[in-house]
Amino acid sequence: MSVELGLRAEGMLDELGRLSDKDGLLSRPYLGPAHRRAAELVQGWMRAAGAETTINPVGTVVGVVHQSGSARRRRLLIGSHIDTVPDAGRYDGMLGVVVGVLAVEELRRRGAALPFDVELLAFGDEEGLRFPEASIGSLSLTTALPQELLDVRDEDGISLREALVAFGLPGDPPLGGLRYDPADLIGYLEVHVEQGPVLEAMGAALGIVTSIAAAARFRITVTGAGGHAGTVPATMRRDALVAASQMVLAIEEAALAAGPDVRATVGELVIANAAANAIPGLVRFSLDLRAPDDELLARARAAVVAGIAAVATARSVDIAVEPEYEGSATVCDPALSAALARSVEGLGLSAPRLPSGAGHDAQTVAGAAPVAMLFVRCRDGVSHRPEEYAAPADIGLAVIALADAIGALAAEPDPRSGAAAVG
Ligand code: GLV
Ligand code: MN
Ligand code: MN
Repeated sequence: MSVELGLRAEGMLDELGRLSDKDGLLSRPYLGPAHRRAAELVQGWMRAAGAETTINPVGTVVGVVHQSGSARRRRLLIGSHIDTVPDAGRYDGMLGVVVGVLAVEELRRRGAALPFDVELLAFGDEEGLRFPEASIGSLSLTTALPQELLDVRDEDGISLREALVAFGLPGDPPLGGLRYDPADLIGYLEVHVEQGPVLEAMGAALGIVTSIAAAARFRITVTGAGGHAGTVPATMRRDALVAASQMVLAIEEAALAAGPDVRATVGELVIANAAANAIPGLVRFSLDLRAPDDELLARARAAVVAGIAAVATARSVDIAVEPEYEGSATVCDPALSAALARSVEGLGLSAPRLPSGAGHDAQTVAGAAPVAMLFVRCRDGVSHRPEEYAAPADIGLAVIALADAIGALAAEPDPRSGAAAVG
């Protein structure tokens, strides 16, 4: 049964993986044309699984499986994201969306009667690469987003407002009004490809996430002085690229000194108006900083920023360090995690616990509901690359484990309502 489900999941992931804004590789930024097609495809799957669906004002596909009975029920949220990094694999995010749909189908096949509604969510902006904010979909459910967020612009100067309209949505949604009432939520479960090598090394198909790392993202602008490549002596230059290069090394050094669990990455570096025969006068680069807890992240951040500033002083360039995004470390809910672990162990598998260094929508949703995550083993620990791969057999096990966990939660007392969930 689980193999069959895994193969179905693989077919769905293949279908989703073909929806790209670039030829020959998978690139599906938030609110782009491929995101629209992916949202419609997912909406169709949710509908076929028995959900009442909509695409919400920030582009999240929402599918609610209502249980028969009373009108207003508490909801268990199941979700992940359908945006991708440039040149992505087919599993990061999408795997959790597909597994959620198949788990709901599986519960229906079993004729399971649940005492709560299940809400499937396919967020459009987990990677946070298009606009200077990340996880807009999940954030809108847990935070009253300021209306000014609609004015943020992408690299091409397109505002969030314009992008929403191009996607086919109203351009001025009441962002602050999308928040869910925590009292309505039982919790949030997210299945995700591990994106690292730990489960594979342990020989485990599935794992339970203990916590999600704290993360911060910055954009750094280095302003020096441009000039002619042939005329200005090295000692008289204020070369923004040479300064930025030294800053990249200073970041590495400061992060290493802050501790072995700190991660610092400069993934983007752009020379403005680059020319082979011109001294770079303006350089922008990104900085992605992560640590297992908020305190260590704060220390690493201070050390890294001091390192950048020291280089700027030494090289007489100006710097602007703009924070773009910050997410606190998140501890997964023990009760929901235990439910996932029991369902994995019920399949005769071990359920190792591991932390997540990658960010997830669960981190954001944790602002409104207890969250738990199930990781699926991936090949060679590769992610954010087209080589990303998870085996259908493992994905099928994740579908059964998720369906079993939802079934088990239905049989447990609901700790937040103070009443038995069964009834
Ligand atoms: C999301 O994939 C992230 O961790 O950056
Ligand atoms: Mn992801
Ligand atoms: Mn990702």
